[in-house]
Amino acid sequence: MKIKSICCIGAGYVGGPTMSVIAQKNPNIKVTVVDINKDRIDAWNSVDLSKLPIYEPGLDKVVSESRGRNLFFSTDVDKAIFDSEMIFISVNTPTKTYGAGKGMAADLKYVELCARQIAKVSKSDKIIVEKSTLPVKTAEAIKNILDNTGSGVHFDILSNPEFLAEGTAIKDLEFPDRVLIGGEQTTEGNLAINKLVQIYSSWVDSTKIVTTNLWSSELSKLTANAFLAQRISSINSLSELCEKTGADIDEVATAIGMDSRIGSKFLKTSVGFGGSCFQKDILNLVYICKSLGINEVADYWEQVIIMNNHQRTRFAKNILTSLYNTVAGKKITILGWSFKKDTNDTRESAAIYVADNLIDEEASIHVYDPKVSAKQMHLDLNNLNSREKSLNTRMLNVEESPYDASKNSHAIAILTEWDEFKGYDWEKIYASMNKPAFIFDGRNILDKTKLEKIGFIYKAIGKQ
Ligand code: NAD
Ligand code: UDX
Repeated sequence: MKIKSICCIGAGYVGGPTMSVIAQKNPNIKVTVVDINKDRIDAWNSVDLSKLPIYEPGLDKVVSESRGRNLFFSTDVDKAIFDSEMIFISVNTPTKTYGAGKGMAADLKYVELCARQIAKVSKSDKIIVEKSTLPVKTAEAIKNILDNTGSGVHFDILSNPEFLAEGTAIKDLEFPDRVLIGGEQTTEGNLAINKLVQIYSSWVDSTKIVTTNLWSSELSKLTANAFLAQRISSINSLSELCEKTGADIDEVATAIGMDSRIGSKFLKTSVGFGGSCFQKDILNLVYICKSLGINEVADYWEQVIIMNNHQRTRFAKNILTSLYNTVAGKKITILGWSFKKDTNDTRESAAIYVADNLIDEEASIHVYDPKVSAKQMHLDLNNLNSREKSLNTRMLNVEESPYDASKNSHAIAILTEWDEFKGYDWEKIYASMNKPAFIFDGRNILDKTKLEKIGFIYKAIGKQ
């Protein structure tokens, strides 16, 4: 029997796009995405597709094809649970900010609440799918809650971690490198795995659907993110050595990336990785290792985070020292606030930390980002709790255009690799700035020769 009704708890960056693609590719399955956040659900239902709650290239087209046909967004969580045969849990699992494991462990309170609600509402057998990124062995806890608080119905638990990256989510979902499904190695477990395999088989080649036991699947997600982030920290660590020796980090990355054993992806040096996943998931991995007493392994992975923090701080410090050791009262322009291009997501963006460091030095920050709202930027800075909110309001100015942001400025810091930055009238920008005018390119996306010809002092990461 094929699955006919699915619901997904959590209409965020993962739940929204993932379910939209599942609904698009499976028109015979009713897909309901639910969330407790009414504003978010209203935005998912907005007639004007430019008002969807997240910006993701191609998402509007996918939503418009299925919404109202077999894709629905709702705040009625109980009804969706009751009506569905398969329930995805795609709620947030942020780093804990309190109690045991504060600052490291994943906060599983939202996941546990989902499990309890599913147990309470369900009156028929259901397959529960972990879509959120979770510590290895979480499925055991979920099963425990479901079996001990439910009304006797049968639950199968699957792990189906999501590997999409923001900014390319639709492409990643349509053409995944692999789909990973972990389940219990029992007859019932295998039946449940097969039901989820069938859903993905609508558009994913069977050779790309990998099935494993539950714990391998849960751990593979943390491991994938740790490996990806580790590559960025590795190349960033060497960018500092390049600056001191005259080697060029982009040339080094090209040279090593051509070795097929290494590969060319995730070797782009930067001001540091951001996003909601890498830091959180590595800290979680470190915490699990520490809890199990394997401290050498914990220390090994923690170094990836230490290096990333160092890269952000080093970048801000370079601005300070280059501007004659003082930025007090100087206007500094930040271009790009989101953690990468083609997304409005700002979680853990390097820009927040660079701005914070420069405000500590009493710089006046003027930011332009094509997609991030002023409200979000102020929220991000205030969340660091570094100083009085009123001071943040005074020091962080959000501008409508790059030209306004750079007028009379002493330096520009490029912190996101938005394509549009390359096409600006850089002569016009230079003419409006204080001299000498600096550019600190945190993504190495601009043309050094062209900018130096205009008169800029151009500083790239990993180059002299
Ligand atoms: P998000 O914060 O954008 O969305 C989570 C949503 O869950 C929120 O809208 C929240 O209101 C809702 N929610 C929380 N508790 C709820 C409850 N009890 N009932 C109903 N709704 C509830 O988070 P996200 O970025 O979509 O991430 C979700 C999970 O997927 C996390 O575990 C994350 O690590 C993982 N993940 C994220 C990405 C990514 O690129 N963002 C990629 C892969 C995996
Ligand atoms: C990541 C994983 O890639 C994805 O598989 C997982 O599901 C969620 O976490 P995401 O955080 O959305 O995705 O974006 P990603 O493209 O991985 O970029 C993360 C950060 O690393 C960004 O700040 C990006 O700019 C930075 N980065 C990426 C680099 O600095 N250099 C690189 O070479 C690649």
